[in-house]
Amino acid sequence: MNAITPLPVEAEALFDRIADALAETGYCIIPDALPENLTLPLHRYLQRLHDEDFHRAGIGRDQEHQLNRRVRGDEIRWLSPEQPEEARYLEWMSALRLGINRRLMMGLFDYECHFARYPEGAFYRRHLDAFQGRTNRVLSTVYYLNPDWSADDGGELLIYADEQSREPLERVLPTQGTLVVFLSDRFPHEVLPARRERLSVTGWYRVNNSLGGQVDPPR
Ligand code: OGA
Ligand code: MN
Repeated sequence: MNAITPLPVEAEALFDRIADALAETGYCIIPDALPENLTLPLHRYLQRLHDEDFHRAGIGRDQEHQLNRRVRGDEIRWLSPEQPEEARYLEWMSALRLGINRRLMMGLFDYECHFARYPEGAFYRRHLDAFQGRTNRVLSTVYYLNPDWSADDGGELLIYADEQSREPLERVLPTQGTLVVFLSDRFPHEVLPARRERLSVTGWYRVNNSLGGQVDPPR
């Protein structure tokens, strides 16, 4: 699993694009980001999973699992390198981690991510993924897997400029192949109610805050 397959030129160009956008605005929205030969099998794999492979998403750190359908209604499944389809996504996001580190010196240390399945009617209220200085999640990623998503299907991701903003900066349809990357402690965001099942992979690049024997990120 340590062998890093050489990245095609397109991947390097994509990393340039992401790094430039992050440096300039703190976020980016990229359609058709990952190769189809990764996305399509990942989507098929996810469709083959059963309800038991998912669990209700909690709110807050350290598995507090304060379940609250009024805040978020999605079900999640953490990715691990044991499944080939999951491993390929993790490898790709690991390449992106190194690509960003090389360009922006962000010192991203690791990546954690889960599938998220929003049943019809589910949403995720406005929130921040990290609070300044209180977590090691620094960069959020969302990769969408839904073919043929239209505005009528709802489920848009709304990204706000800051806590005060009422009008979103961006409205993103969760269309298959679209990758969103943003600074975790900068942009409040929400998921509007989806009118059909909505599938994505949400993840976070983290920095290593381990100090004085306290392991952070916790494992
Ligand atoms: C999250 C999140 C956004 C999306 O899981 O924290 O904000 O569009 N997801 O799925
Ligand atoms: Mn979020």
